[in-house]
Amino acid sequence: MASTIFNASSSLPATLKGLDCNTYKPTLGNLRFIASPNKKSITVPSSSSPAPKRRVLPLAKATSDVPVKTGLSDAECEAAVAAGNVPEAPPVPPTPLAPAGTPVVPSLPLSRRPRRNRRSPALRAAFQETSISPANFVYPLFIHEGEEDTPIGAMPGCYRLGWRHGLLEEVAKARDVGVNSIVLFPKVPDALKTPTGDEAYNEHGLVPRTIRLLKDKFPGIVIYTDVALDPYSSDGHDGIVREDGVIMNDETVHQLCKQAVAQARAGADVVSPSDMMDGRVGAIRDALDDAGFQHVLIMSYTAKYASSFYGPFREALDSNPRFGDKKTYQMNPANYREAMVEVHEDESEGADILLVKPGLPYLDIIRQIRDNSALPIAAYQVSGEYSMIKAGGMLKMIDEEKVMMESLLCLRRAGADIILTYFALQAARCLCGEKR
Ligand code: PBG
Repeated sequence: MASTIFNASSSLPATLKGLDCNTYKPTLGNLRFIASPNKKSITVPSSSSPAPKRRVLPLAKATSDVPVKTGLSDAECEAAVAAGNVPEAPPVPPTPLAPAGTPVVPSLPLSRRPRRNRRSPALRAAFQETSISPANFVYPLFIHEGEEDTPIGAMPGCYRLGWRHGLLEEVAKARDVGVNSIVLFPKVPDALKTPTGDEAYNEHGLVPRTIRLLKDKFPGIVIYTDVALDPYSSDGHDGIVREDGVIMNDETVHQLCKQAVAQARAGADVVSPSDMMDGRVGAIRDALDDAGFQHVLIMSYTAKYASSFYGPFREALDSNPRFGDKKTYQMNPANYREAMVEVHEDESEGADILLVKPGLPYLDIIRQIRDNSALPIAAYQVSGEYSMIKAGGMLKMIDEEKVMMESLLCLRRAGADIILTYFALQAARCLCGEKR
């Protein structure tokens, strides 16, 4: 791994002026992914690898601005100053002119002027409270049985990736820029969908097969899996649906436990129940432990809201509920306190990571959980959030890259440790100083 070292005395570049990727780079506490924004920075190699791609810029040469040395010794210089022969420094620069017509007013008697701390790029970088790095990203990837990568209409730039080829290429690209965590979402053939979603725990199914392939090719990556029945359910619900439309809780949890164990057996590092059934975290923990998977983490979708922002995802997986909605298990977007009920359950049942979903419209929930739990927090910037930013960018209504980076930074500021985002690769490239 190469580290970037800043030459503190050098001037800052113009690129730091605007609200661009550089604004979001980690400050000196986290050097790993700082692309060099600075002509006088150098990179030095250190032991670990692989290194993310970065710009390596040459050391600047002395320029004509550098004062010419006089050839006097230190002692001669000191003696000259002591004798009153003080060398000339540049004159104080004139006060810059205000435009004609600017009112002449006495200074406001302010003891505090917060703008002082924002005066220069160096000061702003020094006082930046939140940082973001590719290590914070989890990249959600859609997979299917096919050989081709099929574009997803409602999510420009996202594909249903062929599990054997396209997926591996995408993971390699992500790793190149420091994204080592992925979460898999399968598009299951209709013929394999049933009311009880049994394909979910088929050990030879698409997800377990893909996990084994990935672990073989990239042993170092962290694989998250989704635990829920909806991609496998002929009803498109996260649980088993009774005749009268009720989603059956405990029976669904039984299936989810089998699904989680099948994923763990294939090599999943983190299983992520997104179904919102009661008691599933504890039951999955027991099932994993009984099967010898004490080391597998559970990331619980703790506060998952019944949101319209999931629309593009359901198109991607063709997983729309065949009838009704998900309001008897996903949370009411109007509710804030209720998130803490879920937090207490998940904590006591042994969750390792608590997830909030969607992301940006739910920053208050992230902050509430951050302030009330010591566990790591994940935020899911969901498909609808992604597609809105993409669409706004394509229509030239917003600057896609800046809005992307700002939205991710804001999720971190609210308290998220990790972010599941379809922008993971694009944002990581941006943080590494690469443009597409
Ligand atoms: C379902 C699941 C959903 C998402 C992740 N897992 C959709 C849903 O609950 O209907 C949505 C993710 C997104 O919109 O990006 N278990």
